[in-house]
Amino acid sequence: MGALDGQVAVITGASSGIGAATARLFAAEGARLALLDVNPVPGDLLGLGEVTTHVTDVTDAAAVERAMAEVAERHGRIDVLVSSAGILDRVPFLEMSPERFDHIIAVDLRGVFLAARYAAPYMVEAGRGRIINIASQLGIKGGAGLAHYVAAKAGVIGLTKALALELAPMGVLVNAIAPGPIETPLIGGRPEEWKREKAAELPLGRFGRPEEVAPTALLLASSPGGDIYVGQTLGPNSGDVMP
Ligand SMILES: NC(=O)c1ccc[n+]([C@@H]2O[C@H](COP(=O)([O-])OP(=O)(O)OC[C@H]3O[C@@H](n4cnc5c(N)ncnc54)[C@H](O)[C@@H]3O)[C@@H](O)[C@H]2O)c1
Repeated sequence: MGALDGQVAVITGASSGIGAATARLFAAEGARLALLDVNPVPGDLLGLGEVTTHVTDVTDAAAVERAMAEVAERHGRIDVLVSSAGILDRVPFLEMSPERFDHIIAVDLRGVFLAARYAAPYMVEAGRGRIINIASQLGIKGGAGLAHYVAAKAGVIGLTKALALELAPMGVLVNAIAPGPIETPLIGGRPEEWKREKAAELPLGRFGRPEEVAPTALLLASSPGGDIYVGQTLGPNSGDVMP
């Protein structure tokens, strides 16, 4: 028996990093997967049992609505949504154009809103569901050169609390995960020296791996493990932030 046997899980940003690791773990726990990403899904994920893929840009409201409807039609329901699609960009605030700010907000905050907005009705109809938003610890601690990203991620934490309050009475539990630095392509391009210095600052002395974040998503998605989490932000972060 897997923890998610027969459940239908939609994962955005499933083609890479935390989303892909979550897809692998959820499939191993018996979930049927609907993988949403703007980029193609890697071949190994396609073999994870009953999987559908939906090439979707999370900033496109009509496309997200369509993708959720396709999932519900194909799989019959949506039990779990993990919103992991995200991008990171660094630019000093005094050089940050409004367009660059808007773009990060569109993907990292509005994309999370859209996925929840169009998945939640299926959960409410069923009287049960789990929404797990991948925020970032930077939304709690801030970060220089990251005003747009930090604002988006703090927004995801706030959005999570608002949705949690509104949807819990309807049986839908909404929570966030705020990872610390995780070894994925998102930060893969950073200089080695930055990575060494950053890792040395962490109480654990190292970055996390996507496979070490996925179990937190599983906890929140599963029962009884996730049954009394409402509006929380969990922090798999190597000890960097202790709220
Ligand atoms: N890696 C870290 O250190 C770290 C730390 C904290 C939070 N996060 C967050 O975790 C989430 C996953 O990041 P990751 O590290 O796995 O990065 P990643 O780059 O490995 O994966 C991100 C995925 O999102 C997809 N994506 C990007 N824009 C999209 C769009 N408009 N529509 C649909 N899909 C889109 C990408 O194609 C990619 O597959 C992000 O929200 C990120 O902000 C990452």
